[in-house]
Amino acid sequence: MPQPRVIITAPVPADLREQLAAQCEIIDVPTGAGLADALPKEQLDSIEGVVCTVRSKFDTAVFDALPRLRVVSNFAVGYDNINIPEATKRNVLVCNTPKVLDGAVADLTFGLLICLARDLVRGDAHVRSGAWAEKGAPALTQDIRGKTLGLLGMGRIGRVVAETAKAFNMKVIYHNRNRDAEAESLGFAEYRDRDALFAESDFLSIHVPLTPETRHSVGAKEFAAMKPTAYLINTSRGPVVDEAALIDALKAGRIAGAGLDVMEQEPLPASSPLCALPNVVLQAHVGSATVETRRAMIDLAVRNLLDALSGTRPQAMVNP
Ligand code: DGY
Repeated sequence: MPQPRVIITAPVPADLREQLAAQCEIIDVPTGAGLADALPKEQLDSIEGVVCTVRSKFDTAVFDALPRLRVVSNFAVGYDNINIPEATKRNVLVCNTPKVLDGAVADLTFGLLICLARDLVRGDAHVRSGAWAEKGAPALTQDIRGKTLGLLGMGRIGRVVAETAKAFNMKVIYHNRNRDAEAESLGFAEYRDRDALFAESDFLSIHVPLTPETRHSVGAKEFAAMKPTAYLINTSRGPVVDEAALIDALKAGRIAGAGLDVMEQEPLPASSPLCALPNVVLQAHVGSATVETRRAMIDLAVRNLLDALSGTRPQAMVNP
């Protein structure tokens, strides 16, 4: 029997690739290349599976171009790059990589929080430029202990962030569609309605997926409700935040600063006004980008693909 043909756009380590090659015919496509025209039609016609990053978009045109597709295994927990109803209608399984990256994303969230509170980026520049010797110590910064961390979203990642915040003696409040009775009873976080969450937080961290409902759901109204001393942190998806409204709020001092791992346009162009703002710390969508976490993610993504192709229910499937 011929082996199933699969497209790979995600980085697969050599040992795993060998295992995969024993069961599939691999066709490599560069990360982010449009799949509908990445290969000649006769090749596209035979593709049964894809392992891809969030930079591969799956809309109707891509599904039309891959008529034999059975599984899309996303190398990410988020799957806003894939039209799920369309996939489901066509009996294409969509898989993702939940749980294995929760700790890494929570760590980066805290990294940004500490950077903002203690002004680490400017502090580093101060020392390197010789300003320490010339002008003395930089300006005083902020305590983290005793401050209030607001979590917009209390899924798995939000929960790990809440647990981490306890070690910093922070007060944690959250807003989520569904209340997390366990987190509340264990004392990890207190529930707030959405307005109270924005008004009370010293640090407001976003942990919701990107959906039509959450797109631009944090905008001018929310920034106006925040304290002028508060910081916004986003390690989820850029378009959850109305970036133009955020830039206005940062320029006007309506909030104190922002730590962003994700933006509306990625890669972020150097010409973005965000790059010129001194009260912003930027990262290149690297929440899960550690050696250990990325390995666990690709192990799971490949396992999901092989399970789906062999007719076994994959460990992490997102179709309803
Ligand atoms: C995820 O897993 O969703 C990360 O944000 C990588 O895109």
